[in-house]
Amino acid sequence: MTDRDTPGTGPSVPPPDRPTASPDAVPPTRELWGSRAGFILAAVGSAVGLGNMWRFPYVTAESGGAAFVLLYILFVFGIGLPVLLAEFTLGRRTRLSPIGALRTTGGRGWSIIGYLFVAAGLLILSYYSVIAGWVTRYMLDSIISGFPGDPGAYFGQATEGPAPIIYHLAFMVLTITIVMGGVEKGIERASLIMMPTLFLVVLGLALWAFSLEGSGQGYSYYLNPSMDELFELETFAAAAGQAFFSLSLGMGAMLTFSSYLSRDENLPREGTIIALSDFGVAFLAGLVVFPIIFALGLQESVTDSTVGALFISIPGAFVEMGAIGRVVGALFFIALFVGALTSAISLLEVVTSSMIDEFRIPRRKAAVGAGGLIAVLGILPAMNIDVLGAMDAIASEVFLPMGGLALAVFVGWVLSRPKDEILRGASPTIAGLLGGWIWVLRVVAPIFLVIVLYTTIPNGIDAVRAIFQGG
Ligand code: PHE
Repeated sequence: MTDRDTPGTGPSVPPPDRPTASPDAVPPTRELWGSRAGFILAAVGSAVGLGNMWRFPYVTAESGGAAFVLLYILFVFGIGLPVLLAEFTLGRRTRLSPIGALRTTGGRGWSIIGYLFVAAGLLILSYYSVIAGWVTRYMLDSIISGFPGDPGAYFGQATEGPAPIIYHLAFMVLTITIVMGGVEKGIERASLIMMPTLFLVVLGLALWAFSLEGSGQGYSYYLNPSMDELFELETFAAAAGQAFFSLSLGMGAMLTFSSYLSRDENLPREGTIIALSDFGVAFLAGLVVFPIIFALGLQESVTDSTVGALFISIPGAFVEMGAIGRVVGALFFIALFVGALTSAISLLEVVTSSMIDEFRIPRRKAAVGAGGLIAVLGILPAMNIDVLGAMDAIASEVFLPMGGLALAVFVGWVLSRPKDEILRGASPTIAGLLGGWIWVLRVVAPIFLVIVLYTTIPNGIDAVRAIFQGG
């Protein structure tokens, strides 16, 4: 990518093929990605992050292992990918951020969903940044001094007292700086190097984990589904929440990124690449974390703090590996840090671009205002890990599926000629599948997501109550 194609910053480049009298009036200053790789990289950067490495293993552990993994795969490709294409359809057609995209195509009523997206962005980034703060600390320690011998105690130090607040604020300052100035060349290049590095390091770790004595139990926990769990509504809901969270769906991040696209991208192909990369990294992360947890006998500390599973098991492994562990440990946390940063950028970009489009606030002010608010909101989850867990459950299992449901219904039933947009740049074989896509949006996704919300909304209300009652 070049610096002229970063979203909403730098000199403006009008879309070359912009229709002169489009009904969905496109602001003439809208920019475009410079290349297909630039867009895919940014979208994969948004998708691959803490959701793959931290949340996937943690939710898998909490939801009973392999049955969850199976449902997760079904949700990613059966519902997630169609909803991802729905976001792309709206974003590329309108070239607006979510509120404007929904208003110009559906009217005022539908634009409320755009506000829901902005709220979800605020909520998610405020605790995401706290976890990214832990990652920042782990990264610095792994580079400077290596990990101490007791990973459980180390996790406690990193997550209690003033330290997590300071690291959270530092991470927010960094995210704001990047969104203010645009997604700089440096970050684009870094992701280009770091995303493959992350992948290779995780692959290497998975192989190393395979060689550990006692890892077998980890694999059977991770990969052997038990039938009764498969049919539990909670497992079902957790899988949906994880699929939406990991693919950055249901809050307009992918919509916003696709609003900087030119007309000729093959959206079904790009969507499939994004979903496959995202799933691949999450699956590999499971092949690292579970064998290590069982081989090192860390089940105890992990059930004590499922949120901390990754942060306890991985440093434990690096200590065990000795000198090589220091190098690999540092590489792992640097890569994880970059993954978290590129995802955080996309979260802040949704809120920022909405402020720019809706209120004509200059980018710098919008980024500082939105990011500042998020930084303050994040102090609470930084102080209390239970609050963090509750915020995460509500955001990913209530807000995102709700957003996904609204998008599916809107694009499936309300938007005029949704297939036309997807067909631009798509190959003829894909055209034949599009009838199926529309019916997934119209019927299949809504049925599944209503079932999910039926389970998660009452849980969400309980979680909020528990927080307010000091639970
Ligand atoms: N998908 C990101 C991750 O896996 C998190 C995210 C969620 C980013 C929603 C944007 C929107 O870490």
